[in-house]
Amino acid sequence: MKRIDVLLGLQWGDEGKGKIVDVLTPRYDLVARFQGGPNAGHTLEFDGEKYVLRSIPSGIFQGDKLNVIGNGVVLDPILFVDEATALSRSGHDLTTRLVISRKAHLILPTHRLLDAANEAAKGDAKVGTTGKGIGPTYTDKIGRYGLRVGDIEYDFLNKYEQAKQRHLGMLKAMDFPLGNLEELERAWLEAVEQLKAFTFVDSEWLINNSLREGKTVLAEGAQGSLLDIDFGSYPFVTSSNTICAGCCTGLGVAPSSIGQVYGIFKAYCTRVGAGPFPTELFDQTEDELCRLGHEFGSVTGRKRRCGWLDLVALRYTVMINGVTKLMMMKSDVMDTFEEIKVCVGYEHEGRVSSEFPYELNESYRPVYKSFKGWGQDTSKMSHEEELPAALREYIAFIEGEIGVPIALISVGPDRDQTIIRGTL
Ligand code: GDP
Ligand code: IMO
Ligand code: MG
Repeated sequence: MKRIDVLLGLQWGDEGKGKIVDVLTPRYDLVARFQGGPNAGHTLEFDGEKYVLRSIPSGIFQGDKLNVIGNGVVLDPILFVDEATALSRSGHDLTTRLVISRKAHLILPTHRLLDAANEAAKGDAKVGTTGKGIGPTYTDKIGRYGLRVGDIEYDFLNKYEQAKQRHLGMLKAMDFPLGNLEELERAWLEAVEQLKAFTFVDSEWLINNSLREGKTVLAEGAQGSLLDIDFGSYPFVTSSNTICAGCCTGLGVAPSSIGQVYGIFKAYCTRVGAGPFPTELFDQTEDELCRLGHEFGSVTGRKRRCGWLDLVALRYTVMINGVTKLMMMKSDVMDTFEEIKVCVGYEHEGRVSSEFPYELNESYRPVYKSFKGWGQDTSKMSHEEELPAALREYIAFIEGEIGVPIALISVGPDRDQTIIRGTL
């Protein structure tokens, strides 16, 4: 039975995953996050309200669907409780609609410090992380030192103390200041107490049993495939498998249970933090993309670097994920552009290649195909037939190059600004 569909980002994150998970949620019984943590910032807009979710799945606003934080996620109790409290204050009670895997790993206050210490030690080679302790928490998971949500139920303080002492030793060796650690620790332990109000589950059983009962699941990716720990632009990546395979390990589901793989991309490209970005722009067009697309990080507020759509990278991530349907976001941002470019190859040492290389560096120069802009406001359009001919040409070109249909076009941040082409 193929009843899990996966929705994931095909670029460097912030493609618009939160918006589309919210749009698709009515079609499913469960929504589950499978990796990442509060480095994610998923924005949803409806009824004139805007919400940014970090750890909580984006299915939380649609009726009584069950939302699952899977084992592959790393959870910061402080940030999670803050997020949950803010939602319940705005009338969205979660306690009966959200469950957390016992196997999800906890982000400790010292993980945040280690994240900062690692970045400082890297100097010019820093990754530009979100500073949320993601890398050190996954490092502990793989190193078999981690603390899991399930540990909260057994001998927790002892385990916490051991982990903390180990981290303090590392921080001391790096000569990194502890700052307000005590205060942070107090808030963290308090948040751990509050976390106990939520239901901890063995989510692999919950999900597999639900599937057996005929229920359907939407798996929500965080970050994007070009930030994947194995296939992204290493070392300028995050510390989890953001690709489709991450859904199997991050939820405990078999590859054979996956149905659609929805790959979501912006009609241009953005990236936050350091690392290669072949189609990055440094001109007025960059300013326009940033301004019109409001390209500022939803977690850190950092300005996102902007550039043209990169089909070499997109073809690569579509391959790695086995994308069955594409979804194109934010084409409305380019409504006023006279010219739109798309990277169709990389020129390197006198040759043009359409393959994504082992190490992207400045010697790979984008080769562009140019399109005439459509010069029309598309943000109120709700049917494919209304879309301007030039935009349809752009869409057809991408589909032709990638070989996968674009099943959804998003023309604005609101839930309603979504055009579905045919059946999803
Ligand atoms: P995510 O991390 O993939 O969920 O994406 P983010 O929420 O970080 O960033 C996407 C941003 O674009 C958010 O501010 C959304 O409200 C906004 N957005 C999503 N889809 C569209 C769209 O089609 N058009 C426009 N103009 N904005 C969009
Ligand atoms: P969503 O889910 C965009 C980037 C950081 C940094 C690198 C590593 O909203 O798309 P980390 O804190 O994970 O160790 O940082 O990854 N990054 C994101 N960029 N969107 C995200 O999430 C990101 N999560 C991490 O900027 O370059
Ligand atoms: Mg985001």
